[in-house]
Amino acid sequence: MTQTLFTPATLGKLQLKNRVVMAPMTRSRADGNVPNELMEKYYRLRAGAGLIITEGTSPSANGLGYARIPGVFSDAQCEGWKRVTDGVHAAGGKIFVQLMHTGRVSHSANMPAGAKIFAPSAVAAPGEMWTDSSGMQPHPVPTAMSAADIALTIAEYAAAAKRAVEAGFDGIELHAANGYMIDQFLNTATNQRTDTWGGSVENRIRFAVEVAKASAAAIGAERIGMRISPYGAFNGTAPDAEMDALYERLIAELNSIGLLYIHVVDHSSMGAPEVSPALKAKLRASFKGKYILSGGYDLVRANADLDANRGDLVAFGRPFISNPDLVQKLQNGTALTAPNFNTFYTPGEKGYTDY
Ligand SMILES: Cc1cc2nc3c(=O)[nH]c(=O)nc-3n(C[C@H](O)[C@H](O)[C@H](O)COP(=O)(O)O)c2cc1C
Repeated sequence: MTQTLFTPATLGKLQLKNRVVMAPMTRSRADGNVPNELMEKYYRLRAGAGLIITEGTSPSANGLGYARIPGVFSDAQCEGWKRVTDGVHAAGGKIFVQLMHTGRVSHSANMPAGAKIFAPSAVAAPGEMWTDSSGMQPHPVPTAMSAADIALTIAEYAAAAKRAVEAGFDGIELHAANGYMIDQFLNTATNQRTDTWGGSVENRIRFAVEVAKASAAAIGAERIGMRISPYGAFNGTAPDAEMDALYERLIAELNSIGLLYIHVVDHSSMGAPEVSPALKAKLRASFKGKYILSGGYDLVRANADLDANRGDLVAFGRPFISNPDLVQKLQNGTALTAPNFNTFYTPGEKGYTDY
């Protein structure tokens, strides 16, 4: 019997050889924030996926909050990414870059000189983060963005989208999930603004919508997806009473822009609260583009959810870390290798390209 997960799919102008998506995963191997040969090898080995979505990649120096994450705004970064996209394409894969601006989830010790830690409001993220020079450090209080800072940041997303396509990416995914910059505007725990960028649902979705519009003007909406995490509680975000209304309104706006896909995070497999199944079904029914499922998937559940029309594609995260040939293994029924989480974010090839 044909398993739906392994059937081809259309994504905008792309033909995907199967419905397996490699989920975006920060791996912190980009020394100096520039993609390197090791990363080229890592992604090329995983080109069996119908679509690869890269690790979170910053559109701006201001968005490089974590140690050793890549950017896609300088010449050196784009040259590095060109080698990655060439490698994946030569191996028969397709690849989108995830644009992740870390916003307040940041530390100056991780950032280039002169970069600023921006957020909608001057509210520090809870807890601490890793820095290579000083170990664990508390998150600093970010600078609340002025209207000019917001306009600049939106323009940076659009410029990065353009550079990404020039570097050979098939498209971009806007990271509007998990408490990073775009989600910091969406969420009431992080957005305490009283101007047109905060308060009402309409105002809180404005940044996400403007980033999507500016990026679409740069590269076309048919090359842009968005990752969202309704009911997420990561990086100090929290559900509120307007959660369903906010995401329904956002999806309506993304429909009118003509966005290619939404990619819905559900981290209940990682101990986070479950995402309301009613809201997921509502978003599935109302969004006109494709829908990527994610979070704790295995072969059986992936096929079941595709067959029940809950989504069009299924993202696998952790299984891809330790099984570069994941698609082949799933097809052959080969047992999967378990990932070693001690090497998720450590520099070098150990736990990265040696599985
Ligand atoms: C090491 C690691 C890094 C991750 N980095 C990102 C990221 O950069 N962007 C993102 O949207 N999600 C990120 N995630 C979340 C994954 O995309 C995915 O949603 C999560 O692992 C659940 O899927 P899984 O059960 O298939 O692993 C990361 C997850 C892991 C394990």
